[in-house]
Amino acid sequence: MLSLAPDYQKLRRTLLGIYNRSLAQLCMPTMPAHPAHGNHVLLSHIHPLLALVRFPDLPVSLPGWLTIAEQRMLYALAYLLPGPILEIGSWLGRSTACLAFGIRDSRQPKTLVSVDLNLKPEHFRPYGDQVGFFYPAAATQPLALVEVEQYHSNVAPVLHAPGGILQALRTNLHSLDLLDLVHIVMCDFRAAPRLPYRLIFCDVTHNPGEIAHNLPDLAHLLQPGTIVACHDIDDVNEACVRSLLPVRYGLRCDSLFVAEVGSEMPTHASIPFK
Ligand SMILES: C[S@@+](CC[C@H](N)C(=O)[O-])C[C@H]1O[C@@H](n2cnc3c(N)ncnc32)[C@H](O)[C@@H]1O
Repeated sequence: MLSLAPDYQKLRRTLLGIYNRSLAQLCMPTMPAHPAHGNHVLLSHIHPLLALVRFPDLPVSLPGWLTIAEQRMLYALAYLLPGPILEIGSWLGRSTACLAFGIRDSRQPKTLVSVDLNLKPEHFRPYGDQVGFFYPAAATQPLALVEVEQYHSNVAPVLHAPGGILQALRTNLHSLDLLDLVHIVMCDFRAAPRLPYRLIFCDVTHNPGEIAHNLPDLAHLLQPGTIVACHDIDDVNEACVRSLLPVRYGLRCDSLFVAEVGSEMPTHASIPFK
């Protein structure tokens, strides 16, 4: 029996590819370079474009917490911005896949480094009526909290599976044919390869405590013009991020706060993403 579905998918992908590339090409020459730092793309200039980029593989079929709008935003950032790109906190690869799809579809060689901890069951234990994430395992205060039910259904099975997070991540990226695009490094982001990252996706910013613990240690990876996208950001968390990073332009897409780093304080209110 004949099936037209694969042909339709291929055609749709091709048309969206042409659309996205023409969008990027039409608009890229109008993006001024940052005067002090070569060819940095300004977030204020790509802001209107971000909503127009189409993501053919949406939604990504991997478990995780990113909303569809956040997946689209990560894809668009990886598509439009130059590399290298750093991801902090890949877990099972939902955000990794969005970034890798964006790189693949941009048809530009961009390095994507994805770091995560080699988490073990001992990094989690009950805390109040939730389960705390303790890092290092001997820490007395949790960095983040997970609902008990979510821990047992989503987190514990991965921690106890043979090969743990690393194996699950590799299998997931392989299933999407993206494994070759990602340099997976199992380490604390503090030990991540030191590259001139243009985009850093940071998924270790769930609450003010975790933000204060982690963001200052990003400093050595930042330069004026670096774009940092932090997940799980509400108003309180955004204020914490802004108190620690010199944000010169920011926008919010659901709970993804995308910020361009400047060289000095103070900061400005973020503009909601449309
Ligand atoms: C919320 S999960 C990431 C979810 C993932 N981005 C997604 O889209 O599904 C946070 C991840 O950050 C990792 N992590 C926490 N602290 C870290 C650190 N200091 N360095 C690297 N990874 C870290 C955890 O191991 C965990 O896998």
